[in-house]
Amino acid sequence: MDKILRKGGKRKGLTERTLVFLKPEAVMRGLVGKIVSRIERRGLTIAAMKLLQPTRKQAEKIYEVHKGMNFYEPLIDHVTSGPILAMVIEGPNAISILRNIIGKTNPIEAQPGTIRGDFALNVQKNMIHASDSLENAKKEIKILFSSDEILEYQKPTEAQYMF
Ligand SMILES: Nc1ncnc2c1ncn2[C@@H]1O[C@H](COP(=O)(O)OP(=O)(O)O)[C@@H](O)[C@H]1O
Ligand SMILES: [Mg+2]
Repeated sequence: MDKILRKGGKRKGLTERTLVFLKPEAVMRGLVGKIVSRIERRGLTIAAMKLLQPTRKQAEKIYEVHKGMNFYEPLIDHVTSGPILAMVIEGPNAISILRNIIGKTNPIEAQPGTIRGDFALNVQKNMIHASDSLENAKKEIKILFSSDEILEYQKPTEAQYMF
């Protein structure tokens, strides 16, 4: 437990950061609060959060591995069509935990209890993005956030009751 306590204001090891964003359908359907609360109740920490309409350049960078796929252009059109709620989420194993919370990419396969399994019907409009690896998380966070927008803090419950 002591290992993850902050030393000199910095969180030590064992925690990860991941980029999460709620896609325009989540904002337009008024489900922001319901979805963010699922992330909070799990015990993860919101290190950064902002509502923005992403530029084409930002969306293309985030989804660049899919360039050339038939769904790529419509996906970029969709994600840039309205507001998204972008977050940096921090905590132990944040990347894997978030991927489990969101569920499988295609809502047909996403289990009930996951965000996609509970709120989505359509593979493109599947509500939420979460980075799939440490390397991609680092890259994706930089696309939407500057370092001064990411806050370092520790909730009192973390050390005592969560980690
Ligand atoms: N076959 C598809 N048809 C339409 N859209 C798709 C398809 N596959 C993926 N997408 C869209 O592209 C996004 C990125 O795909 P991918 O990285 O495979 O999924 P994930 O978001 O689960 O990491 C998906 O969240 C979804 O919005
Ligand atoms: Mg992905």
